Formats: sequence, C-alpha cells, structure tokens
Amino acid sequence: MKLKAMYSFLSKDLAAVEQELERTVQSEYGPLGEAALHLLQAGGKRIRPVFVLLAARFGHYDLERIKHVAVALELIHMASLVHDDVIDDADLRRGRPTIKAKWSNRFAMYTGDYLFARSLERMAELDDPRAHQVLAKTIVEVCRGEIEQIKDKYWFEQPLRTYLRRIRRKTALLIAASCQLGALAAGAPESVAKRLYWFGHYVGMSFQITDDILDFTGTEEQLGKPAGSDLLQGNITLPVLYALRDERLKAAITAVSPETNADEMAAVISAIKRTDAIDQSYALSDRYLEKALRLLGELPANKARTLLHDLALYIGKRDY
Ligand code: IPE
Ligand code: IPE
Ligand code: MG
Ligand code: MG
Repeated sequence: MKLKAMYSFLSKDLAAVEQELERTVQSEYGPLGEAALHLLQAGGKRIRPVFVLLAARFGHYDLERIKHVAVALELIHMASLVHDDVIDDADLRRGRPTIKAKWSNRFAMYTGDYLFARSLERMAELDDPRAHQVLAKTIVEVCRGEIEQIKDKYWFEQPLRTYLRRIRRKTALLIAASCQLGALAAGAPESVAKRLYWFGHYVGMSFQITDDILDFTGTEEQLGKPAGSDLLQGNITLPVLYALRDERLKAAITAVSPETNADEMAAVISAIKRTDAIDQSYALSDRYLEKALRLLGELPANKARTLLHDLALYIGKRDY
C-alpha cells in the first residue's frame, strides 16, 4: 500500500520525531507527563508531522531543525484532542480511555495547557517570528472552531458555509500551518510555502469531511472511538446537512435532541446512510482534494511531491 511506502521513506525521520515527542512530554515527572504519554503512546497517524517533514523537502532539509516544528505541530494537535474530548464528553480516543475519562475534566484542562506550552517551547527553537505568528494564529482559529461547534449544536438550519467555516477553523488550518511551517523552517521560497499552505488547507477540509463521514460509516474498532457520536451530541456534520435536504427525513432528523435514546438514534443514522448523503459528502471531499492536487501540480516535481499526492489520495479514502 502506498501509504506504507510513504511512512517507510520517512521512517528514520519519523522515528526521530517520535523520540523527541516522548522526550518532550516526559520532561515532566508526575501526572502531567504521565497523562500526555498515555495519549502519545496510544498511537495516532502523526499526519501533521508527516506534512511538516514533506513540506520541508521543498527547501533545505535539515532534520535537526525541522524536527522541532514537527513535534510542535503534533503537540498542538494533541492538546486540542485532550480539550476536544472534554467538550465532546468522549470516553475513548485512539482506542484508549481519554484523559478526561481516566483522570477528570479538570485534569484534562491542564494536560491540554501543558501540551500547548510544551509545543511553544519546541517552536522557540526556531528564531523566525513568522513561525510563531502562524502558530499563534492557528491556535486562535482552532479555539474559535471548537467554540462555534458548541454554539451551533442542534442548529439544523445552519447553512453549509457555517459548517465549512467551522471545519476550516477546527481542522484544516492546522494542517495548512503544518505544510506552511515545514516550508518556512526549511527556507523554501515564499511562493512554494504559500502553495503548500493552500494544499494543506484543501487536504485538511477533505480530512475533516472524511472524519465526519466515518462517524456514520466506520466501526468503533476502525475509529478507536464509538461511531455515530456526532449527531448524538447534536453536532451537525456534512452528511446530516445533505440528508436534511430530503423532505422525508427532515422531521426525523430535526426531532433529534439530547433526550433521543440509542435505538431512536440508530434508526435515524441508518436512515441517513440510506440516502445519498454519504456519497454527496464524499463528492465534496473529492472536490477539495482536486483543488489540493491542482496546487501540487504547480510545485517542483520531487519525491516529496509524489508522497504528498499519495497522502492526499489516502485521506480521501481512509477508513480510520
Ligand atoms: C482527529 O485527528 C481529529 C480531527 C481533526 C479529525 P486525527 O485523525 O489526525 O487523529 P490521530 O492523531 O490520528 O489520532
Ligand atoms: C476535531 O473534532 C478535533 C479538533 C480539531 C480539536 P472532532 O470532535 O470531530 O474529532 P474527533 O472525532 O473527536 O476525533
Ligand atoms: Mg471529538
Ligand atoms: Mg469535537
């Protein structure tokens, strides 16, 4: 499989990033380090570090410098997951109990903050103020996206653009920043960094749309978390927005509330799956991927470009 080939091309460098990640989170003895390690060792795809490393191949690739950026981006991602699981009241992440479930919500708040702080510390190894500005702006946007998600719960009339703006903030911009920062830190030309940013942005949109589809179609085993929890929580994602256009389903979907029981919810979810909402969602995801691939075509041809291409295709078809 192509994705394996990609990870094998990067395996030495990713192993170095992994080691740095462990060292960084463990530089704190006691419960904070322990909780952060619990999440780190549960696995995860590490796609943000992969984007950083591949984007850096468009400049002067120096692992000693770039690894700080890769570590910083994964730590930001981890911090947002720890906080997200508090917001979503999630008990399982990467197949393991979440930090909020194993410890507590209050403890998870500080573990998230701890991870953010460690991320900033790693980024400080870079003496480029632009990098810090990009990172800070991205964190602000993730916070906005997560807050919007709380605000927009059970809002069945929300326009498609509200959903798209939310996923851009909560997911796509961090992937865009991974690509941009990888390029910046390697001193790639500004025009290349900009294209990589937009590539990451479009891939990131597709990534979250796929995540939202998988919440309907995936199994708990594939996802490492229970399937079907988005709608149960009132989180209106793309498949729901498309299914709402079907008059026959509208009443059943808009009747969903915090009181809906598991059986009623299972019925609504299978009704949504029987419409073409899932196919339509994949079609929109594909449109973002096409935009991403078009941008890639404008970049210098090299091994990294081939791998970014494979990674984009994987993201559109992933099943975990
Ligand atoms: C999960 O991200 C949250 C989203 C933005 C969809 P990932 O799917 O990258 O999570 P891990 O790191 O592989 O667990
Ligand atoms: C993505 O949101 C998490 C962040 C970007 C912080 P989700 O709530 O959709 O992600 P999962 O499904 O918990 O991984
Ligand atoms: Mg969540
Ligand atoms: Mg969430």
